Amino acid sequence: MSDSARHGNPRPQGSRIDPYFDQYAQRARGMVASEIRALFAVTARPEIVSLAGGSPYVTALPLDVVGDMVGDLVAGQGSVALQYCTAQGDPGLREKICEVMSLEGIKAHPDDVVVTVGSQQALDLITRIFVDPGDVVLAEAPSYVGALGSFAAYQADVVHVQMDDDGLIPEALAETIQRLTSAGRTMKFLYTVPNYQNPAGVTLAAGRRHRILEICRAAGLLVIEDNPYGLLGFDGEPPRALRADDPDGVVYLGTFSKTFAPGVRVGWAAAPSAIRDKLVLAAESAVLCHSSFSQLAVREYLATQPWREQVKAFRELYRQRRDTMLDALSAQMPEGCRWTSPAGGFYVWLRLPDGINSKAMLPRAVSSRVAYVPGTGFYADGSGTDHVRLSYCFPEPDRIREGVRRLAQVIEAEIDLRATFGSVPSLGGPGSDTPGPGDL
Ligand SMILES: Cc1ncc(COP(=O)(O)O)c(C=O)c1O
Repeated sequence: MSDSARHGNPRPQGSRIDPYFDQYAQRARGMVASEIRALFAVTARPEIVSLAGGSPYVTALPLDVVGDMVGDLVAGQGSVALQYCTAQGDPGLREKICEVMSLEGIKAHPDDVVVTVGSQQALDLITRIFVDPGDVVLAEAPSYVGALGSFAAYQADVVHVQMDDDGLIPEALAETIQRLTSAGRTMKFLYTVPNYQNPAGVTLAAGRRHRILEICRAAGLLVIEDNPYGLLGFDGEPPRALRADDPDGVVYLGTFSKTFAPGVRVGWAAAPSAIRDKLVLAAESAVLCHSSFSQLAVREYLATQPWREQVKAFRELYRQRRDTMLDALSAQMPEGCRWTSPAGGFYVWLRLPDGINSKAMLPRAVSSRVAYVPGTGFYADGSGTDHVRLSYCFPEPDRIREGVRRLAQVIEAEIDLRATFGSVPSLGGPGSDTPGPGDL
């Protein structure tokens, strides 16, 4: 009899073929690959139009120029670029990061900034320093799948807060905080993606931002503002960051993944000083220090290349693809479908007609050579079966049109199927459908 069985512990999820099956820590028990991962592996095939992955279109970068820049970096500064550095990150890069954040109204000092391995690592570190098992994390409904993965890894209890087309609803937030406080629950922070949200594509209305900050301040609740898409808006100036109006109450997470390249894996957190100190210690124990090479490559890119022009070019490219997708949806989708109209970023959130299950439909969509991410990936509680996330950032416009055409046919077939047999069963249970890294 195994120890876990002897002590009456719940049996970990996993395979008996694994000799360490009974040895894993509690926190590893939620880390299970999903059935839909196998399907996503198939979506790399060229005959399949993938509207699933959120990969930036890095081919739009001047790759030869970036190549020369990297060559010069190694030749001229190799002894620093190929060496260890401090856990807080390169001071020159942190200065540049402050310049980037100033575009969103943030006044920061390089000391406020901790460089991370993409903003994904900042999410991991923040959760690591704040969350004990069973603590509540508030998150939008739906929420970014990678953040939900970090919260699950530290055994947080995610409570979703309602959104609408103007982002997080302040009244819903206030009511949720009130309910959890009355129930004696410990809330650690609110996690929000205010701009061009992943997956819903919506943006927190300017008029709601102060109210959200006020509610959190009154409840003593820290805000984690995750903002990878803030500079990728299609109209006007970038939205003002929440941190710009409450630097003591907001940790801001940024990244160069969408405005430069995800392969460099450079992101950051800007935090109040006490939190910053903890983040540096946590980063040190996780990785000693981040890649000097990547950090200096980004610093050089910002110092020597017309990066603002490049961001403008990305915006234009993604605007065109957004328009293509919205036009195709209007022309092709059957009655009963509704979708958001993102003003920036990468994603459209499509609501399916009543009774159609996005997770059950996925194998049939892949057979019809189109892929998407089922809505269930974006909820901690298994809801979201009535939605799918569509990305327009990577496929060329012709492929977007073709993908939407195929998807519309799949949905129509599903409507017929439902009319004949009633609802069609899904692939698996709640929380078992985490997509892979390419689908974030
Ligand atoms: C909302 C959100 N946060 C964080 C990330 C992680 O980005 P990275 O780790 O590449 O900086 C992503 C990536 O898609 C995202 O959409």
